[in-house]
Amino acid sequence: GFGGTVRCLERVGPFKGMDMMLTGRNLSVRAAKKIGLIDHAVPRRHLREAARQCILNPPKQKSLPLWMKWLNHPRLRSWLAKLFIKKVSQRVRRAHYPAPYALIDLWEHHAGDRDKMLKEEAASVARLITGKTAQNLIRVFMLQEQLKGLGRLDGYQPKHVHVIGGGVMGGDIAAWCALQGLNVTLQDQRHESLAAALQRAYALYKKRLKQTRRINAAMDRLMPDINGHGLVKADIVIEAIFEDVKVKRQLFREIEPKLKAETLIATNTSSIPLEQLSEALTKPERLVGLHFFNPVAMMPLVEIVHGQQTSEDSRDKASAFAKTISRLPLPVTSTPGFLVNRVLMPYLIEAVTLVDEGIPLKVIDQCAIDFGMPMGPIELADTVGLDICLSVAEILSQHLDIEVPKVLQDKVNRNQLGKKTGRGFYKFKKGKPVKLNVEKNYTPPTDLQDRMIMRLLNENVACLRDGVVENGDLADAGIIFGTGFAPFGGGPVNYIHDRGAQQLQKLLENLSHRYGERFKPDSSWTTL
Ligand code: NAI
Repeated sequence: GFGGTVRCLERVGPFKGMDMMLTGRNLSVRAAKKIGLIDHAVPRRHLREAARQCILNPPKQKSLPLWMKWLNHPRLRSWLAKLFIKKVSQRVRRAHYPAPYALIDLWEHHAGDRDKMLKEEAASVARLITGKTAQNLIRVFMLQEQLKGLGRLDGYQPKHVHVIGGGVMGGDIAAWCALQGLNVTLQDQRHESLAAALQRAYALYKKRLKQTRRINAAMDRLMPDINGHGLVKADIVIEAIFEDVKVKRQLFREIEPKLKAETLIATNTSSIPLEQLSEALTKPERLVGLHFFNPVAMMPLVEIVHGQQTSEDSRDKASAFAKTISRLPLPVTSTPGFLVNRVLMPYLIEAVTLVDEGIPLKVIDQCAIDFGMPMGPIELADTVGLDICLSVAEILSQHLDIEVPKVLQDKVNRNQLGKKTGRGFYKFKKGKPVKLNVEKNYTPPTDLQDRMIMRLLNENVACLRDGVVENGDLADAGIIFGTGFAPFGGGPVNYIHDRGAQQLQKLLENLSHRYGERFKPDSSWTTL
């Protein structure tokens, strides 16, 4: 806005200008100078003098090279616009995110006439900013700020983290904490786990930190500690060993006497109620759940799980710790599946049921992507690992109306666990699923999307009734940041209000007549 689209394109031409604006990517000062977006770059201490010189001797307006000016010819413009649209449409849809498309339209139709383009830009920005998508994205931003606010705690500055269990989760949690500047000791009973964790950490640091000096410093902060020497110094201990109550209890009994009195004890369990674990502790009030998501470096949310005995102080410290390591804390109760897995699982299971009914994988996934999910449910299940999905589904099926489809069990029995074994529902080639084309005359049933999404929404409503999170805003925040649920929709609860709770309740009733009890609307729809 404010004429920025016009001036940016005048300065750097359509290729670089559009690339910047359509991706929203930031440029370093050096890069901005190189493409001609800015005239000078000086160290901060010279800023005042440089500004004075700029005013006294204004830099000459550099004009674009001739070939870049040609790109503004109407014929070339409409051809280029098609190219831009093709690129944008690979990432987002016009119906979901209209802004990049509006930007291309503006350039295509008005780039030849500066005054007109300035006017049209103002009109276009006004339309976008008052539109649903922008309003919902502002809401998502506010939700993010709200979660960050939950992590505010004066005077609490954990410096040393001790992680026990260096597998998929523990190894990556340790690496992430060291990346964020904390000193970390990583304990595992197996040398191999520690070696693999360090290797993954190195790859992460290389990608994120780039400079050798910074990579080495991060590696120095991450110390393998097979004997658990770090326990006595730790401000917080994070347990991420096998998902087994007895083994975890035994570990807690062993470590508690070694810890400082104020050390926070956290578990990354995804399914064991905290009350069952805290039995093993003499001070159960300091046990809290820190439920990270896989892959740790990509997922911004951490569920802060409080059991009946968890003290408020422990809960606050855990939230503050999440914030220290640049993660968003979401307080949840210690109930099966907490919030995110509980809401996600019925949706995944419904998708697997559709596979069982013979719907092509690609159609199911595309249907969810069309709704605005970042990835289809079948690809997601393959990525998380079908063994993990099965174990979470089995645990949740003891508490919720979830029937584990046979095909999921069969896949696990055949060791087709998804991406990690190269085959799950999809076959994987170089880490990517091979999506077979669907027959040309195939028409999918019309209620696919409803079947998947309505189960997710229904469970979300049930979570609110059970008080898993305090309110609808927190539920929306959790599901957006924990699952990537269509951010332009502002979260499931916001979506329900947008479409009308009554109407959706009716839709669920219809589905339950057709497909059975699992679609029965939760009792609290009427109170929404
Ligand atoms: P994993 O099997 O990859 O790693 C477990 C590690 O703990 C292994 O390296 C093992 O050698 C070590 N270990 C077991 N007992 C130990 C002991 N007594 N002392 C020291 N080390 C010990 O398991 P994963 O997937 O990392 O899961 C760990 C925890 O995180 C579980 O509670 C799981 O429910 C939870 N979780 C897992 C997620 C996932 O996507 N895998 C997501 C969120 C939570």
